[in-house]
Amino acid sequence: METVDLTEYGKEFTADPYPVYARLREQGPVHHVRTADTGELWLIVGHEQARAVLADNRFAKDARALGLVTYDEELLGRHMLVTDPPEHTRLRRLVAREFTGRRVEELAPRVEAITAGLLDAMLARPDGAADLVEALAYPLPITVICELLGVPYLDRAAFRAWSNEVVAPTGADAERKAFEELAVYLHELIEDKRRAPGDDLMSALIRTTTEDGDRLSRTELSGMAFLLLIAGHETTVNLISGGVRALLSHPEQLALLRADMSLIDGAVEEMLRYDGPVETATFRFTTEPVEIAGTVIPAHAPVLVALASASRDPGRFSEPDRFDIRRDTRGHLAFGHGLHYCLGAPLARLEGRIAVRALLERCPDLALDADPAGLDWLPGMLIRGVRRLPVRFTPAGRGAPGVSSSVP
Ligand code: HEM
Repeated sequence: METVDLTEYGKEFTADPYPVYARLREQGPVHHVRTADTGELWLIVGHEQARAVLADNRFAKDARALGLVTYDEELLGRHMLVTDPPEHTRLRRLVAREFTGRRVEELAPRVEAITAGLLDAMLARPDGAADLVEALAYPLPITVICELLGVPYLDRAAFRAWSNEVVAPTGADAERKAFEELAVYLHELIEDKRRAPGDDLMSALIRTTTEDGDRLSRTELSGMAFLLLIAGHETTVNLISGGVRALLSHPEQLALLRADMSLIDGAVEEMLRYDGPVETATFRFTTEPVEIAGTVIPAHAPVLVALASASRDPGRFSEPDRFDIRRDTRGHLAFGHGLHYCLGAPLARLEGRIAVRALLERCPDLALDADPAGLDWLPGMLIRGVRRLPVRFTPAGRGAPGVSSSVP
């Protein structure tokens, strides 16, 4: 099979990979590709095949069989996204109950309060202009996940820089350095928690012992903290900023939502389907040769499932390139599928719903304040998101019609 060279497309592919995915899908659901940051690999672009691969245990996560040790493992400890059953089952069982729909709904008042505080600060800006990432999309999820885990003080600027580098590396040295610094930080954090446990998830994980006496080791704890902190915000920040970007560039859809806020849940699902935060799932490796739609992927080969492509497959969604908040979005793969289906999906949905709704209600004239073609995209194929999303609005107190502060 011919290798498709994705590096030829350069930055254009990062800003808008959908036309390339559409062409690849027309040629077939599976391709051997060359990428700029992760070398040659197999890319699954069809919806049916993507779903099947995510549920097939011949596509494994544990890369040790290939002699590969990732920075995550070397420096931070093993976690759910680098393990297969039974190790994965065990790790996931220890935290799953904290992330059920019911447990997460209990966080709604707190998420609303944090959102209101952030919007108060944004609307107080006299110039009526802000970077929505800085003002809302980044601080909301990071505050929520830190409170949940019990991370009392986080050096936000340093953490954001490490975290951005981990999910969208700008170079090999910078990536390694970010992992090393993050590792030191997390080890200190866990030691502090051991000395002074509280009423939070990290302390609970330190204490937790299952019925059969199982508990997390020291490195498993830091792996877990790493995964939850990174997965808990690097994605949701882009659901909020990407969702708002999609709404602001589709005024008729924005008007529909403003006219009927009961559409918000469907709108969030469509934001996830249309341009979700996770472009490709994390790496999987074939444990044996596997045939998909007539193509044989050899044993021990790296495989990426292009979730963004699957969610735009016309075989699954009619007119997939149309952003339509009232469409049936069932079957989108933005949160993955199978054993590694996103643990934080209920929390991400809650944050997305609350943030977008509150933002629209409090900024009746919200508009993009930048040329969409000039936005600065995070590099790589894992995360889709912009570093900054400049917006304009009428500042609080300037009498924009219908603006009401949520501050009592
Ligand atoms: C819109 C926001 C989010 C999106 C689009 C998203 C997407 C995903 C996807 C696609 C996967 C599967 C990766 C794979 O199979 O390779 C995943 C796994 C995971 N996500 Fe999320 N995620 C989001 C928010 C969150 C939040 C808020 C948390 C917080 C706690 C979280 C925690 C996790 C964890 C722990 C896993 C690994 C689960 C496992 O391996 O069993 N995610 N996420």
